[in-house]
Amino acid sequence: MRIDILSVLPEMIEGAIHSSILKRAQEKGLAEFHLHNLRDYSTDKHRRVDDYPFGGEAGMVMQIEPIDRVVSLLKSERDYDEVIFTTPDGEQFSQSLANELSLYRNIIILCGHYKGVDYRVREHLVTREVSIGDYVLTGGELAAAVIADAVVRVIPGVIGDEQSALSDSFQDNLLAPPVYTRPAEYKGWKVPDVLLSGHERKISEWRMEQSMERTQRLRPDLLKR
Ligand code: ADE
Repeated sequence: MRIDILSVLPEMIEGAIHSSILKRAQEKGLAEFHLHNLRDYSTDKHRRVDDYPFGGEAGMVMQIEPIDRVVSLLKSERDYDEVIFTTPDGEQFSQSLANELSLYRNIIILCGHYKGVDYRVREHLVTREVSIGDYVLTGGELAAAVIADAVVRVIPGVIGDEQSALSDSFQDNLLAPPVYTRPAEYKGWKVPDVLLSGHERKISEWRMEQSMERTQRLRPDLLKR
Protein backbone atom coordinates (compact mmCIF):
# COMPACT_ATOMS: atom_id res chain seq x y z
CA MET A 1 0.00 0.00 0.00
CA ARG A 2 1.17 3.52 -0.83
CA ILE A 3 0.19 6.55 1.27
CA ASP A 4 0.98 10.07 0.02
CA ILE A 5 0.66 12.76 2.70
CA LEU A 6 0.33 16.43 1.70
CA SER A 7 1.16 18.96 4.38
CA VAL A 8 2.69 22.35 5.15
CA LEU A 9 4.50 20.70 8.10
CA PRO A 10 5.71 17.29 6.88
CA GLU A 11 8.34 17.18 9.63
CA MET A 12 5.51 16.69 12.13
CA ILE A 13 4.72 13.33 10.52
CA GLU A 14 8.26 12.13 9.84
CA GLY A 15 8.90 10.75 13.33
CA ALA A 16 5.77 8.62 13.24
CA ILE A 17 6.45 6.97 9.89
CA HIS A 18 10.15 6.36 10.52
CA SER A 19 9.71 4.55 13.83
CA SER A 20 9.11 1.01 14.96
CA ILE A 21 6.33 -0.91 13.22
CA LEU A 22 5.69 1.60 10.41
CA LYS A 23 9.39 1.65 9.61
CA ARG A 24 9.44 -2.16 9.54
CA ALA A 25 6.36 -2.24 7.31
CA GLN A 26 8.26 -0.12 4.78
CA GLU A 27 11.39 -2.28 5.03
CA LYS A 28 9.24 -5.36 4.38
CA GLY A 29 7.74 -3.66 1.30
CA LEU A 30 4.21 -3.76 2.77
CA ALA A 31 3.77 0.01 2.98
CA GLU A 32 5.26 3.06 1.30
CA PHE A 33 4.97 6.61 2.63
CA HIS A 34 5.61 9.71 0.57
CA LEU A 35 5.55 13.10 2.27
CA HIS A 36 4.96 16.17 0.11
CA ASN A 37 5.53 19.71 1.32
CA LEU A 38 2.76 21.83 -0.18
CA ARG A 39 5.16 24.79 -0.30
CA ASP A 40 7.13 22.95 -2.99
CA TYR A 41 4.05 23.37 -5.21
CA SER A 42 3.60 27.10 -4.62
CA THR A 43 4.35 29.47 -7.49
CA ASP A 44 4.82 32.36 -5.06
CA LYS A 45 8.42 33.57 -4.63
CA HIS A 46 8.01 33.31 -0.84
CA ARG A 47 6.54 29.78 -1.23
CA ARG A 48 3.27 30.93 0.30
CA VAL A 49 0.34 28.53 0.16
CA ASP A 50 -2.33 30.66 1.85
CA ASP A 51 -4.08 33.97 1.28
CA TYR A 52 -6.72 36.24 2.85
CA PRO A 53 -10.32 34.96 2.80
CA PHE A 54 -12.94 36.47 0.49
CA GLY A 55 -15.60 38.19 2.56
CA GLY A 56 -13.14 39.46 5.10
CA GLU A 57 -13.11 36.90 7.92
CA ALA A 58 -10.21 36.52 10.34
CA GLY A 59 -7.39 34.09 9.56
CA MET A 60 -5.76 32.77 6.42
CA VAL A 61 -7.05 30.20 3.95
CA MET A 62 -4.98 27.53 2.21
CA GLN A 63 -5.15 28.05 -1.54
CA ILE A 64 -6.44 25.48 -4.00
CA GLU A 65 -3.63 25.80 -6.60
CA PRO A 66 -0.71 24.15 -4.75
CA ILE A 67 -3.02 21.38 -3.53
CA ASP A 68 -4.48 20.76 -7.00
CA ARG A 69 -1.00 20.81 -8.52
CA VAL A 70 0.34 18.01 -6.31
CA VAL A 71 -2.91 15.97 -6.40
CA SER A 72 -2.99 16.19 -10.23
CA LEU A 73 0.67 15.21 -10.49
CA LEU A 74 0.15 12.17 -8.25
CA LYS A 75 -3.03 11.16 -10.09
CA SER A 76 -1.17 11.35 -13.43
CA GLU A 77 1.28 8.76 -12.08
CA ARG A 78 -1.18 6.21 -10.63
CA ASP A 79 -4.81 5.70 -9.63
CA TYR A 80 -5.83 6.66 -6.12
CA ASP A 81 -8.61 4.92 -4.21
CA GLU A 82 -9.31 7.84 -1.90
CA VAL A 83 -8.21 11.45 -1.29
CA ILE A 84 -8.71 11.92 2.44
CA PHE A 85 -8.91 15.31 4.11
CA THR A 86 -8.27 15.48 7.87
CA THR A 87 -10.71 17.83 9.57
CA PRO A 88 -12.63 17.88 12.86
CA ASP A 89 -15.96 18.07 10.97
CA GLY A 90 -15.31 14.86 9.02
CA GLU A 91 -16.65 11.34 9.62
CA GLN A 92 -15.34 9.81 12.84
CA PHE A 93 -12.24 7.62 12.35
CA SER A 94 -12.70 4.09 13.69
CA GLN A 95 -11.18 0.61 13.59
CA SER A 96 -13.60 -0.38 10.85
CA LEU A 97 -12.54 2.60 8.69
CA ALA A 98 -8.88 1.68 9.33
CA ASN A 99 -9.63 -1.90 8.20
CA GLU A 100 -11.42 -0.62 5.08
CA LEU A 101 -8.63 1.79 4.09
CA SER A 102 -6.00 -0.92 4.63
CA LEU A 103 -7.44 -2.81 1.64
CA TYR A 104 -6.63 0.03 -0.76
CA ARG A 105 -3.52 0.26 -2.94
CA ASN A 106 -2.99 4.03 -3.00
CA ILE A 107 -4.41 6.80 -0.85
CA ILE A 108 -3.67 10.50 -0.46
CA ILE A 109 -4.06 12.20 2.92
CA LEU A 110 -4.32 15.99 2.80
CA CYS A 111 -3.61 17.60 6.16
CA GLY A 112 -6.18 20.29 6.72
CA HIS A 113 -6.21 23.45 8.73
CA TYR A 114 -9.67 24.00 10.16
CA LYS A 115 -11.58 26.91 8.59
CA GLY A 116 -8.40 27.34 6.58
CA VAL A 117 -8.75 25.46 3.29
CA ASP A 118 -10.47 26.88 0.21
CA TYR A 119 -13.75 24.97 0.21
CA ARG A 120 -13.40 24.06 -3.48
CA VAL A 121 -10.65 21.63 -2.41
CA ARG A 122 -13.25 19.77 -0.36
CA GLU A 123 -15.88 20.02 -3.09
CA HIS A 124 -13.76 18.89 -6.02
CA LEU A 125 -10.54 17.16 -4.95
CA VAL A 126 -11.32 15.36 -1.70
CA THR A 127 -13.29 12.08 -1.67
CA ARG A 128 -13.48 11.54 2.09
CA GLU A 129 -13.27 13.79 5.16
CA VAL A 130 -12.07 12.18 8.38
CA SER A 131 -11.91 13.39 11.99
CA ILE A 132 -9.96 11.58 14.69
CA GLY A 133 -12.17 12.94 17.48
CA ASP A 134 -14.28 15.79 18.78
CA TYR A 135 -11.50 18.23 19.59
CA VAL A 136 -9.56 20.69 17.46
CA LEU A 137 -5.85 20.18 16.76
CA THR A 138 -3.60 22.93 15.45
CA GLY A 139 -3.48 21.13 12.11
CA GLY A 140 -4.28 17.83 10.44
CA GLU A 141 -0.73 16.42 10.66
CA LEU A 142 -1.18 14.44 13.87
CA ALA A 143 -4.52 13.17 12.57
CA ALA A 144 -2.80 11.99 9.35
CA ALA A 145 -0.15 10.20 11.44
CA VAL A 146 -2.88 8.51 13.52
CA ILE A 147 -4.74 7.36 10.40
CA ALA A 148 -1.56 6.10 8.68
CA ASP A 149 -0.52 4.20 11.81
CA ALA A 150 -3.89 2.53 12.39
CA VAL A 151 -4.26 1.61 8.70
CA VAL A 152 -0.79 0.19 8.16
CA ARG A 153 -0.72 -1.92 11.32
CA VAL A 154 -3.73 -3.99 10.12
CA ILE A 155 -2.12 -4.84 6.75
CA PRO A 156 -1.46 -8.60 6.94
CA GLY A 157 2.18 -9.29 7.81
CA VAL A 158 2.91 -5.88 9.33
CA ILE A 159 2.50 -7.09 12.89
CA GLY A 160 4.61 -10.19 13.52
CA ASP A 161 1.88 -12.27 15.11
CA GLU A 162 -1.11 -11.89 12.77
CA GLN A 163 -3.46 -12.89 15.55
CA SER A 164 -2.53 -9.84 17.53
CA ALA A 165 -4.07 -7.30 15.13
CA LEU A 166 -7.25 -9.40 15.00
CA SER A 167 -7.55 -9.52 18.79
CA ASP A 168 -7.12 -5.76 19.25
CA SER A 169 -9.55 -3.75 21.26
CA PHE A 170 -12.35 -2.53 18.93
CA GLN A 171 -11.72 -5.20 16.31
CA ASP A 172 -15.06 -6.89 17.21
CA ASN A 173 -16.50 -3.86 18.98
CA LEU A 174 -15.09 -5.35 22.19
CA LEU A 175 -12.27 -4.11 24.39
CA ALA A 176 -9.31 -6.49 24.64
CA PRO A 177 -8.92 -8.67 27.78
CA PRO A 178 -6.08 -7.96 30.25
CA VAL A 179 -2.63 -9.43 29.51
CA TYR A 180 0.15 -10.34 31.97
CA THR A 181 3.76 -11.52 31.79
CA ARG A 182 6.44 -12.84 34.19
CA PRO A 183 6.80 -12.77 37.15
CA ALA A 184 3.57 -14.59 38.07
CA GLU A 185 3.63 -12.79 41.40
CA TYR A 186 5.09 -9.34 42.14
CA LYS A 187 4.84 -7.62 45.54
CA GLY A 188 2.02 -10.07 46.30
CA TRP A 189 0.11 -8.94 43.15
CA LYS A 190 -0.88 -12.14 41.35
CA VAL A 191 -1.61 -13.07 37.77
CA PRO A 192 -5.06 -14.74 37.53
CA ASP A 193 -4.68 -18.50 38.22
CA VAL A 194 -6.52 -19.52 35.06
CA LEU A 195 -3.76 -18.05 32.85
CA LEU A 196 -1.19 -20.30 34.54
CA SER A 197 -3.42 -23.39 34.33
CA GLY A 198 -2.49 -24.41 30.78
CA HIS A 199 -6.20 -25.16 30.18
CA GLU A 200 -6.83 -23.65 26.75
CA ARG A 201 -10.63 -23.72 26.74
CA LYS A 202 -10.86 -22.18 30.21
CA ILE A 203 -8.32 -19.50 29.24
CA SER A 204 -10.25 -18.57 26.14
CA GLU A 205 -13.56 -18.46 28.10
CA TRP A 206 -11.92 -16.25 30.73
CA ARG A 207 -10.64 -13.88 28.05
CA MET A 208 -14.10 -13.57 26.48
CA GLU A 209 -15.71 -12.92 29.89
CA GLN A 210 -13.12 -10.26 30.66
CA SER A 211 -13.65 -8.60 27.27
CA MET A 212 -17.41 -8.51 27.82
CA GLU A 213 -17.10 -7.24 31.38
CA ARG A 214 -14.62 -4.47 30.48
CA THR A 215 -16.69 -3.40 27.45
CA GLN A 216 -19.91 -3.31 29.50
CA ARG A 217 -18.23 -1.27 32.23
CA LEU A 218 -16.03 1.10 30.18
CA ARG A 219 -17.63 1.36 26.72
CA PRO A 220 -21.26 0.14 26.83
CA ASP A 221 -21.91 2.14 23.63
CA LEU A 222 -19.81 -0.41 21.68
CA LEU A 223 -22.22 -3.25 22.56
CA LYS A 224 -25.15 -1.34 21.05
CA ARG A 225 -23.50 -1.00 17.62
N1 ADE B 1 -7.55 18.84 12.33
C1 ADE B 1 -7.74 19.55 13.47
N2 ADE B 1 -8.39 18.82 14.38
C2 ADE B 1 -8.64 17.60 13.81
C3 ADE B 1 -9.30 16.42 14.24
N3 ADE B 1 -9.85 16.31 15.45
N4 ADE B 1 -9.37 15.38 13.38
C4 ADE B 1 -8.82 15.49 12.15
N5 ADE B 1 -8.20 16.57 11.69
C5 ADE B 1 -8.10 17.63 12.50
